Amino acid sequence: MLKPEIEDGQASLADPSFRADVLNGFAMRPRAIPARWFYDRRGSELFEQITDLAEYYPTRIEAGILRDNGPAIADCIGAGRAVVEFGSGSSAKTPLLLRAIDPAAYVPIDISGDFLRESSAALSSAFPGLPVHPIEADFMHPIALPAGVADLPKLGFFPGSTIGNMIPASAVDLLRAMRKWLDTGAMLLIGMDRLKDEDVLVRAYDDAQGVTAAFNLNLLERINRELDGTIPVEAFRHRAIWNDMRSRIEMHLEAQRDIDFTIEGRPFAMAAGETVHTENSHKYGPRDARILLRAGGWTPIAEWTDADDRFALILAEAQAPRTAP
Ligand code: AVJ
Repeated sequence: MLKPEIEDGQASLADPSFRADVLNGFAMRPRAIPARWFYDRRGSELFEQITDLAEYYPTRIEAGILRDNGPAIADCIGAGRAVVEFGSGSSAKTPLLLRAIDPAAYVPIDISGDFLRESSAALSSAFPGLPVHPIEADFMHPIALPAGVADLPKLGFFPGSTIGNMIPASAVDLLRAMRKWLDTGAMLLIGMDRLKDEDVLVRAYDDAQGVTAAFNLNLLERINRELDGTIPVEAFRHRAIWNDMRSRIEMHLEAQRDIDFTIEGRPFAMAAGETVHTENSHKYGPRDARILLRAGGWTPIAEWTDADDRFALILAEAQAPRTAP
């Protein structure tokens, strides 16, 4: 747990790594803040609203893939594994998987603590016999697995195309860390969004109702709330652009006029048209997806998609420590 720090007579509840990422993020060029900081309570709620939008297809399609292929997925995975979910959020898709595979335990990991506790409680009552061990953590950093889970064979569950938030080099690092952490004999069921028509992608990240805009702008509200910021939020506009060379949607916050503001008393300035880069969402074709997994120490053994191949669920097994050649 974070303890309040007393600074200049003011209690600050801010996470020190949030503070560091924000102060560095506004100081560097191009300006950028890691996407994980979207998910405070309000941001997690807004993300849930995004998943219901007509334009935001990934959640619905991934749930459909799980629903339609439960028995086939169960055949490949087998019963008795501990399911470790990375970035579990509301755990909305999890019941579909848990019902299909008959696991021995469920370990949801999420950065948003109160959200995690609520969804874990709901899941426990839906699956009375299943041990549930929530872990409040950023899954990018190593966390100890609870006793009673450590010795079970594991299935990493990484849905939602969250891997797409990472640049490929970081995605490979994370996949390797997961393989090491989940141990010999582990499997990984990972959701990856497919490359597709640019218009469809841009609309998914810039919806007509402005929910994604609110989600992006909430980062600035959070900075004002938690880091004593004076950012004029109304001076920023949400932007979603397709970067074809890097095969990703980028979200930015663009200053609409010249502005000055402070964060924890430090001065910052942005000129009209300058942006803060807040998220990447990489999209992978079928072979791109598999080569990323292989590079990360996982061998793909099966995959399931929707009829239009808009989204893929890929099952992989942990590579032996060294594979030839
Ligand atoms: C939760 C990372 C999968 O990149 O599609 C949705 C987050 N951002 N709309 C994504 C998000 C804007 C989402 N992931």
